[in-house]
Amino acid sequence: MDDTRSHYDRLAATYNANWEYSEEYLAWMTDTIAKHLDVAGADTLLDIGGGTGIYSARLRRLMSPPARVFCLDPSQAMLGQAPEGVEAVPAAADDAVRALAERGVPQVDRMLLKEVVHHFEDPAATLGRLSTALGPGGRLVIALLPPTLDYPLFRAAHEVFEARQPHYDDIAETLRSAHLQVSVAHEAFELEIPVATYVDMVRDRYMSLLSAFGDTELATGVREMEAAAPESGVYRFADRFVFVTGSRDG
Ligand SMILES: C[S@@+](CC[C@H](N)C(=O)[O-])C[C@H]1O[C@@H](n2cnc3c(N)ncnc32)[C@H](O)[C@@H]1O
Repeated sequence: MDDTRSHYDRLAATYNANWEYSEEYLAWMTDTIAKHLDVAGADTLLDIGGGTGIYSARLRRLMSPPARVFCLDPSQAMLGQAPEGVEAVPAAADDAVRALAERGVPQVDRMLLKEVVHHFEDPAATLGRLSTALGPGGRLVIALLPPTLDYPLFRAAHEVFEARQPHYDDIAETLRSAHLQVSVAHEAFELEIPVATYVDMVRDRYMSLLSAFGDTELATGVREMEAAAPESGVYRFADRFVFVTGSRDG
């Protein structure tokens, strides 16, 4: 956990900038989350591993006041950027139930876990605990990357990713064991990113898996990427996501 926290504490300053150049991407991701999470009529939303609150804030705009949106994250530096109106909760997912209870919220209507389950030491145990905070008629959405990526990363980075990434089928099975109705959907956005921009993101270790590489290894990986980069100077690839939805009967 300490390595993960220091990774995100360091990344916090540039985290939003890495994605904010593409309003289209942020809008697509927000709409896709909202579609699966069905936030419109909900009174409470807990964004677990919500980071800078980039999606908490956008989802909040789709909910009716006085809906409460909590952004929970162990990294103070990420949370420090949570926009006004989003309630920052400095905690890890395993402490979510206690942290909510302290705020007088025993259960929530909606939970979002976007790109965070790969950080859980024991995803089944953590998800089991979290499911107890989902009220009747509640819904949670786990948005995670698929087992393999189309990203133009260097080969060793793909290998580290594939070794670490939880499989969405296992996540779905965990939610079924927690007595939730489960569905799985695959979604994709076609990204166009200038090679120089993406290479800078990789140098910035924009994905936590890139922290597995020392400076020399990363420089070697970047050289591999540059040698294979398209002549157009623009990477075009699909950013594929799996949305695992768990619903509790009302
Ligand atoms: C890839 S970022 C995703 C942030 C946000 N969900 C988004 O999509 O922009 C992963 C986030 O998970 C947080 N995180 C790591 N371990 C966690 C844990 N055990 N419980 C809750 N959040 C955690 C990190 O601090 C980081 O902000």
